[in-house]
Amino acid sequence: MDANHAGYSGTGFCNTDSASGAAARFTVEAAGSGTATVKIRYANGGSSDRPADIVVNGARAQSISFKATGAWADWATATVTLRLKAGDNAISLTATGSDGLPNIDYLDVTPGAA
Ligand code: GCU
Repeated sequence: MDANHAGYSGTGFCNTDSASGAAARFTVEAAGSGTATVKIRYANGGSSDRPADIVVNGARAQSISFKATGAWADWATATVTLRLKAGDNAISLTATGSDGLPNIDYLDVTPGAA
């Protein structure tokens, strides 16, 4: 967890190692099973997009590419639709490129498709 680039929420953001396989895991609770809209707030001040897998409860749900945001203090939101089960769900973002993940601020989960 780092806090050296402005604009994050809370007390900091997640900065993974710059390596494929680097991951951030979140546990989110769903009241019932079904689709959920998941917003991922991130900053990618690197020069290229950063690809990752989104893994839900151990199964790869989809891939995503976090676009460059121009600077580490410039934050953006990527929105995906995922299927969740009732109760606790493990959502992992796993880098598939050698740069690792972008800096991750938070996940915001709401029931229903985007
Ligand atoms: C810089 C930046 C970090 C970022 C890293 C990266 O070191 O300060 O916040 O995580 O680049 O390329 O991922």
